[in-house]
Amino acid sequence: MLDFQALIASARVTLFASGNQRGVAFDPARDIPSLAGKVILVTGGAGDLGKQVAIEFARHKPARIYIADLPCADHGASVVRGIRDAVADEHCAPVTYLEIDLASFQSVSAAAAQLRAAEDRLDIAVLNAGIMRVRPGTTAEGYEIAFGINYLGHALLMRLLMPTLLRTAELPGADVRVVAVSSEGHVMAPKGGILFDKLKGPCEDIKYYQRYGQSKVAVIGFARELAKRHPQIRVVAVHPGRIITGMARGLQKESLLFRATAPISPIFCVSPAIGVRNHLWAATAPGVESGKYYEPVGVPDKETAVAKDPSLATRLWEWTEKELEGVA
Ligand SMILES: NC(=O)c1ccc[n+]([C@@H]2O[C@H](COP(=O)([O-])OP(=O)(O)OC[C@H]3O[C@@H](n4cnc5c(N)ncnc54)[C@H](OP(=O)(O)O)[C@@H]3O)[C@@H](O)[C@H]2O)c1
Repeated sequence: MLDFQALIASARVTLFASGNQRGVAFDPARDIPSLAGKVILVTGGAGDLGKQVAIEFARHKPARIYIADLPCADHGASVVRGIRDAVADEHCAPVTYLEIDLASFQSVSAAAAQLRAAEDRLDIAVLNAGIMRVRPGTTAEGYEIAFGINYLGHALLMRLLMPTLLRTAELPGADVRVVAVSSEGHVMAPKGGILFDKLKGPCEDIKYYQRYGQSKVAVIGFARELAKRHPQIRVVAVHPGRIITGMARGLQKESLLFRATAPISPIFCVSPAIGVRNHLWAATAPGVESGKYYEPVGVPDKETAVAKDPSLATRLWEWTEKELEGVA
């Protein structure tokens, strides 16, 4: 399916993507308050941005940080070690690797059950895991793979952890937050934002950047709808900026346009340490408004009209409820 609007948006994001240097000033070392007593979950925590987010959180000594990422041979031991080494403080917060495959309802359910069994509270959830340029494929339950991982797996995780988040919100002094990592790449979504009749199946006829864009429109709509339905907690979507991470390195390997622009990419890319500022600001700063999309740090309302459309968010919510019905 050739969609010229999405193609132009893709070229614009590739060539003129926004970095993360404008927006409100936020220095994690100085501006993150004490996280004492808090339990934090970061999905995609073994990836470049997720790991950096965990490192910054760990410096502020929460009760525990869960790094949720794909199962791996050492069960995350080297990732946990890397975080502890980077923090270089014998009082570093405890870090637990939680194995999860967001492309499988069964795996998401098992991870949520493990966390619920271990913790009475969950203060901050950063929904950061994601994929971009992958070949067409489907999740275990047959959903388009980018939509399934970037959006639906996270929606299920939140559904299963919502009782814990809401219970935490009732505790004295609680400030429960969900930060859903979207992308300015949501502008590359197909016309209409989400192709509801194509979410099941590999969508071979849809370009990878449209599939990614669609999943990130869904993340923005989800954050808005979740915020509306649960005013006791703060839920926002963020774009981190443009950062050379595992995802970007994969793109450079596979895309001619990305390879061609690689030599000039440092001009508009930032380091992971800067790229995580929006995650961290949204998770901890005062003045963060629930239901908003921020791009870059602290700048709201830059999402496309379709991502702003409340009727699309409501339709997505209803579709999701139906798909996840009975998954426990
Ligand atoms: N980097 C950027 O410029 C940029 C710009 C806009 C938005 N973002 C968003 O930022 C977030 C973090 O990405 P990143 O740049 O840090 O990329 P990254 O280094 O590739 O991190 C993504 C992490 O998600 C994990 N993951 C992939 N599939 C998963 C699954 N099925 N279940 C659980 N975890 C899975 C990856 O594991 P594997 O490595 O083992 O696959 C990886 O650890 C993503 O949501 C991305 O869309 C990034």
